[in-house]
Amino acid sequence: MLEYIIKGSKKIQGEVNISGSKNSALPIIAATILNAGKTTLYNVPNIHDTKMMFEILNKLGGKVNKKANKIIIDTSNIDKYEIPEELMRQMRSSVIFAGSLIGKYKKAIFSYPGGCDIGTRPIDLHLKSFEKLGINITKNYGNITCNCDKIIGEKINLDFPSVGATENIILAAILAEGTTKIENAAREPEIVDLQNFLNKMGANVKGAGTSQIIIEGVKKLKDVSYNIMPDRIETGTFLCVAAMSGGEIIVKNTNSNHIIPVIDKLEEAGCKIDIQNSKIELKAPKKLKAINIKTMPYPGFPTDMQQIFASMLTLAKGTSIVVENIFENRYKYTQELIRMGAKISIEGKTAIIKGTRRLYGANVKATDLRGGVAIVIAAICAKGTTRIENIEYILRGYEKFEQKLQNIGVDIELVNSKLEK
Ligand code: EPZ
Repeated sequence: MLEYIIKGSKKIQGEVNISGSKNSALPIIAATILNAGKTTLYNVPNIHDTKMMFEILNKLGGKVNKKANKIIIDTSNIDKYEIPEELMRQMRSSVIFAGSLIGKYKKAIFSYPGGCDIGTRPIDLHLKSFEKLGINITKNYGNITCNCDKIIGEKINLDFPSVGATENIILAAILAEGTTKIENAAREPEIVDLQNFLNKMGANVKGAGTSQIIIEGVKKLKDVSYNIMPDRIETGTFLCVAAMSGGEIIVKNTNSNHIIPVIDKLEEAGCKIDIQNSKIELKAPKKLKAINIKTMPYPGFPTDMQQIFASMLTLAKGTSIVVENIFENRYKYTQELIRMGAKISIEGKTAIIKGTRRLYGANVKATDLRGGVAIVIAAICAKGTTRIENIEYILRGYEKFEQKLQNIGVDIELVNSKLEK
């Protein structure tokens, strides 16, 4: 089992280059099925989740060729349409293959993705939207079979601006007959990146980034190369590492426009932030001020930054209130922070965080991807040594994480407890 050993209270200073966005790369990798040809992708993060996506593509008959700084994907021989259950279970976001398989081959079989560590994660909005597009859905023993003769464009109103459902509808509608209009669509930057990629392939998608997206079905798509946008959550993560530790950092190869709410809240907490093109420079105050955050769909404060921000606020001066409005179970990590001396109480969707003078190293466990990172940043600022188990969660979403942290002064070591004497 992989663990981090972190010796806390080091001075944080230095530069970090942001990798490509996990949450943009995953739908774009799935979308390469639509042109049944060759796609070259640049800036794909080398993380567990992208490796899983490539494994699924190979199982469907695709070919993935990894070069130094690019990935060449050939989907011309896709001849299977069932996403393997064990892979669905390991990575629920593989449900994104459904939209492109149905969009291209009018069929897809997959198992219920199942909940994960932050909530039940239903896919009812995905399935309801597929049915509106004329897709037949049958469910038996946990398996879902989707098929149809053709896909007819339709108006779809989402009850909730679900990122995954918005992406799956777009992918299913690209080669449909007629026009599909999504109302109350998710507005995340990753959807804009997906639209840009698809339109470069010859699709006709308009409105991504707004709550109304219009897809005109086309007949054919062409081979393209594309550069994945930078990861906005990794950007926010490293800004918070410096903010919590009273250090300073220069975050490079990123796009500050994607994380305005996070930058605003860091300034409200007392950080000095300077933005120049694709660089963000942050200087932290000696002590952060307590602030309040409420997670909302984009362009509100991102739920993926809730855990990392809450961890940072455990050392702020005063009491902070955090409200998680997107996922129903995204506070599991707080139990581990409390073991390190944090003063947090949870009431329903609300976390009340009483700033404390110090955190202390302890033996703790990563509870999920972003919750695990929340514990890492607490360990960086704690007095003494922290051993964090289950860090496989973190390796799902952060490329070269320990190297990037070491480059800004963090004393972190990756150990395999099985090999330890
Ligand atoms: C995407 O997940 C991201 N994952 C998540 O990032 C992110 O937290 C989330 O969007 C919200 O921004 C990827 O892009 C791979 P949703 P997704 O559908 O698409 C409910 C990370 O850490 N819902 O917008 O699954 C759902 O239960 C991950 O990188 C339904 O009720 O998120 C949740 O409460 C975590 N029915 C809310 O909507 C549905 O059919 C938001 O889910 C679909 C969703």
